[in-house]
Amino acid sequence: MSLMETEHRYGVVSKTLHWLMAALLLIMLASDVWFEAFEHSISEHTLMGWHQSIGALLFGLVLFRGFWRWLNRNRLAPHAQWATLAKWGHFALYAAMVLMPLSGVITVLGEGDALTLFGLTVVPAGPEVEWMEDIGEDVHESLASVLWVMIGLHVAAALVHQYWVGDRTLKRMV
Ligand code: HEM
Ligand code: HEM
Repeated sequence: MSLMETEHRYGVVSKTLHWLMAALLLIMLASDVWFEAFEHSISEHTLMGWHQSIGALLFGLVLFRGFWRWLNRNRLAPHAQWATLAKWGHFALYAAMVLMPLSGVITVLGEGDALTLFGLTVVPAGPEVEWMEDIGEDVHESLASVLWVMIGLHVAAALVHQYWVGDRTLKRMV
């Protein structure tokens, strides 16, 4: 097993990042469910602290993933078919993974709440800035819905590759 990508396979680092981030992202996208399920047992403050911390972790991971992808450029063989579609589809997923935490931070700052990551107050509570809150919330909420659709299409594409086209696309990520 190789750390770096080889011609026909993603390396261990990319695979681990892909599946770890997929799991964390799905947990984060289901935040509404957690907020409702734990509303009587865990304070909203604590839940929001976890939400912010996992979101920030995902932001760090996506930056590292971008760097790792750049280090591995040209190592993987390009797709035989639909290469441009795959490229833009993946680019869109990366863009959404970057914008989600950024819009979250803008929402928190706009609301005038403290930005607390892993128990550390990074920005203390301040005045409410309505336009930031509105833009942040709109982007954060709409992008969450768009991401569900994008992930659905992405998974569908992986399954089509596996069961219809019958190529090695899924195999190179597992
Ligand atoms: C939260 C969900 C997910 C996100 C955000 C996501 C994101 C991505 C991204 C950005 C890539 C491109 C990797 C690169 O070359 O830099 C990728 C590749 C891939 N993903 Fe996902 N993924 C998710 C879930 C899944 C799931 C559930 C499956 C399987 C059913 C899957 C299967 C694949 C496969 C097979 C590839 C390799 C595609 C290729 O070689 O071109 N992904 N994913
Ligand atoms: C990949 C990372 C993230 C994902 C997938 C995500 C996802 C979500 C989702 C699905 C909601 C519920 C939206 C709704 O009410 O309909 C939400 C709410 C929220 N998120 Fe995130 N989030 C992420 C990162 C962050 C970060 C890093 C912060 C702040 C530092 C943040 C701050 C918030 C806030 C303040 C709300 C409540 C918005 C409101 O008042 O309606 N999020 N997030």
